[in-house]
Amino acid sequence: MELIDRHAERDTLKRLVAAVRDGEGRALVVCGEAGVGKTALLDYLADNASGCRVVRTAGCQSEMELAFAALHQLCTPLLEGLTRLPAPQRDALRIAFGMGSGSTPDRFLVGLAVLNLLSDAAEPQPLICVVDDEQWLDRASAQVLGFVARRLLAESVGMVFAARVPSTDIAGLSDLTVEGLPEADARALLDSALTGPLDSKVRDRILAETHGNPLALLELPRGLTPQQLAGGFGLHSAMRLSCRVEETFRRRVEALPDQSRLLLLIAAAEPVGDPGLVWRAAAKLGVGAEAAAPATEAGLIEFGTRVRFRHPLVRSTVYGSTLAQERQKVHSALAEVTDPQLDPDRRAWHRAHAVPGPNEAVAAELERCADRAQARGGVAAGAAFLERATILTLDPMRRTDRALAAASANLQAGAFDAVRQLLSVAEAGAITDMQQARIDLIGADLAFVTNRGSDAPSLLLKAAKRLEPIDADLSRATYLQALASAMFAGRLALGGGVLEVAGDVEAAPPPTSAPRASDFLLDGLVADRARMRALAAEVIEVGDRERAIAEALTGLAAGDVLAVAGKGHEQGQTIGDTVIPFDDVDVVRRLAAGCT
Ligand SMILES: Nc1ncnc2c1ncn2[C@@H]1O[C@H](COP(=O)(O)OP(=O)(O)OP(=O)(O)O)[C@@H](O)[C@H]1O
Ligand SMILES: [Mg+2]
Repeated sequence: MELIDRHAERDTLKRLVAAVRDGEGRALVVCGEAGVGKTALLDYLADNASGCRVVRTAGCQSEMELAFAALHQLCTPLLEGLTRLPAPQRDALRIAFGMGSGSTPDRFLVGLAVLNLLSDAAEPQPLICVVDDEQWLDRASAQVLGFVARRLLAESVGMVFAARVPSTDIAGLSDLTVEGLPEADARALLDSALTGPLDSKVRDRILAETHGNPLALLELPRGLTPQQLAGGFGLHSAMRLSCRVEETFRRRVEALPDQSRLLLLIAAAEPVGDPGLVWRAAAKLGVGAEAAAPATEAGLIEFGTRVRFRHPLVRSTVYGSTLAQERQKVHSALAEVTDPQLDPDRRAWHRAHAVPGPNEAVAAELERCADRAQARGGVAAGAAFLERATILTLDPMRRTDRALAAASANLQAGAFDAVRQLLSVAEAGAITDMQQARIDLIGADLAFVTNRGSDAPSLLLKAAKRLEPIDADLSRATYLQALASAMFAGRLALGGGVLEVAGDVEAAPPPTSAPRASDFLLDGLVADRARMRALAAEVIEVGDRERAIAEALTGLAAGDVLAVAGKGHEQGQTIGDTVIPFDDVDVVRRLAAGCT
């Protein structure tokens, strides 16, 4: 395709390539509204990066939940370099990509691994990484790519992103904002798209309304009837530009033969753009190769080494304007042709979209996917799988359990609206006391993270009390959390102030087994904070680590910050700047001993 105008933008890209060839790492974010020409500029870059190797990936709306999907796509051609990475980085990346198993990889380690993988690949030949549709990257990929882009220094690696609105993960990188084409160029582009005469009033109107947006200039005239083109009556100017472009795509799709429409739907439901998968699914549904021609001739899709829609709006229009039953049929075919060994998560995702209503087998499969995704560090992916599993579950007890698991995964992923919704799903079912306690706990955590929780202490207190007869140890851990959040909320606590919590803890049952460090800490905090401070002062002699803890405790006064770090009772407590891991039993025991 011949690019019109864009001289300044092309120069910027050329300079970037030249710098990368000279051994300087560079990152750039190309941003601008839908259809303004970002992908066209990325294509230009890929075609003109002479002397460089180019690897690409793109965010995809329907894949946003699959952790590391986009990163995996970018790195696939470079994976032979894995063997040259230090073992911990190699292992972290293999786990993230589902190529190996192990404990959840640290995001920092994955970032480092990708940085090294890219620099390694750039040794023999400079490397340009092209990342389109950044706004639709899965979070895990976006975070890692942002991490890497900020650390490119003396590597011959360039990273160029395109985004409608860049996410915060790539904030702070240099950017290049793409605007509409100037009037003369817009006119030239519009003329290139016309196949017949156009009334001059209609032309001026299109030019004025599209503000030089290339997509609109190319597509709007195709959606006009001959009468409209000849100035018979006006355009629907009230409609948003992207809706109008969508409308022209919809009409073109509707005009296709059934088989071609079905083929488009298969391609729309298959996010990777893998022609092999699309054609195998097509064969399952009795769609032959001849179905492609009408769709490609209508300029809606290209079948090359990858399947590429003319524009993301074509994909969303095709998918969104189809009946649910048709979509289910297509997802079912795609699930059948997706390798259960190589790509179990994507297969399960297709299966989930292939069933019309509750289905225990699919829900259970999704639950397993969630475990795998969480093990890879894909918290958001795990949450999405569990949420879908909840919808597909009929059994009320299991449904509540899955809703709770989905709620706590969403809490970790920071999707707070989803947490609220899932909690109300859980509450609507028949629930056991344990489930009710978990609802209270998640509700309290939500209050704590969303409004730094003036009501968190009282909610936690309620949960801790409810847990006393069911699970005494979890109950004590929850009391500790209640105490911490009461100290955090200070004077703002609505009920559940520090003294009230302390009183409740004293009345609570003791630990069931040998007390853990958290039990000592809880008792110590409750018993006598003044004596604890005195004790802490004595311990200062003991050693550096203990001194740090002791100092933190010495400064502790009513209303001081005692924050819960993550799920505090599992990991540790932050007191001032000092984290006390709860396995540091000896230190806490000594500190707390004199207070009980
Ligand atoms: N300077 C240009 N000259 C000619 N055609 C262009 C130019 N810029 C964009 N186009 C064409 O306009 C259409 C829309 O451009 P493109 O797909 O690059 O938009 P985009 O900014 O990537 O949009 P989105 O945010 O939706 O992905 C494409 O068909 C592209 O080929
Ligand atoms: Mg684009």
